[in-house]
Amino acid sequence: MPSPRNIEWIGPAATGHLRLLDQTRLPNEVVYLDCRDVAALWSAIRRLVVRGAPAIGVAAAYGCVLGAQRNEFDRAADYLATSRPTAVNLFWAIDRMRRVQPCTPQALLDEAVKIHEEDAAMCVAIGKHALPLLQRRAGASPAPRPIGVLTHCNAGALATGGIGTATAPMYLAHEQGVRLAVFADETRPLLQGARLTAFELQAAGIDVTLICDNMAGQVLREGRIDLVITGADRIAANGDAANKIGTYALAVVAKHHGVPFYVAAPSSTFDMAIPEGSHIPIEQRAAEEITEGFGTRTAPQGVKTYSPAFDVTPHGLITAIITEKGVIQPVDAARVKAVLG
Ligand code: MRU
Repeated sequence: MPSPRNIEWIGPAATGHLRLLDQTRLPNEVVYLDCRDVAALWSAIRRLVVRGAPAIGVAAAYGCVLGAQRNEFDRAADYLATSRPTAVNLFWAIDRMRRVQPCTPQALLDEAVKIHEEDAAMCVAIGKHALPLLQRRAGASPAPRPIGVLTHCNAGALATGGIGTATAPMYLAHEQGVRLAVFADETRPLLQGARLTAFELQAAGIDVTLICDNMAGQVLREGRIDLVITGADRIAANGDAANKIGTYALAVVAKHHGVPFYVAAPSSTFDMAIPEGSHIPIEQRAAEEITEGFGTRTAPQGVKTYSPAFDVTPHGLITAIITEKGVIQPVDAARVKAVLG
């Protein structure tokens, strides 16, 4: 696990604040942002200071405490829910906070800590359920080649309250001495794969190779990948899964090459209220993230852009979804319901 804590409550419930590791500054600087009011946290979520579906949910839960400190819980909850539209963990966590009685900073902080701790436990459980899938591939590949794993965006420790979702089996396998060769997609346009996944896996001593998104097909064709594993931002009742833009294309190419495509996500990422993926709201991001990302203009002034932050992978392309409650395989509505209960 990377040493810096991504989300931390500092001080007592009535007067404390939320400290976030500023993920926009990684990997060059380890800098923290102290959020003392809801507006600061809203902007931090929108700017991706804190990002990744489970981490957004955990941060918003703590944000509700900031609202209650000023006797503005309802306003805070409503406002935080407008920060980003796709990751359902945000709404899941806020709904859970709305049910807390009494609505005092202390009771809310207790619940937020519980959400945080439960998320950490879910990551470990996901890792344990996913590990045999990796080990099966290890058995399959001719020794002594390490298991080739391809991942997209960052579904790691930085994106959760624990050891990540897609990365959880990597951490557990590494601990057990299973050799891995992880390929991390750079993840255009905001480079979560390059800046965050490569950073945290390297810090953990896991073999990681950075590739540009458009190299994934070639890497699969060369036979370097035994399995693809990503996280998710929202999974519909039939198993269709929204994740960082580029995931769908990866699933299509993996299918073409007969490579299993896994999604790792906690039950808090499922939206059982929507029957399938077309109902998932897809966040649109600012043009500047494509045309002048990280401060350098790379496209002509005034060019039209289109920038969906997420795409939906249909359940038919997903080999299995790994949750803390077990493995959903095959991926369909009946099996989702059976595993999640
Ligand atoms: O825009 P981001 O960085 O919040 O997108 C994050 C992802 O797409 C992750 O893969 C997803 O939230 C799962 S994190 C465990």
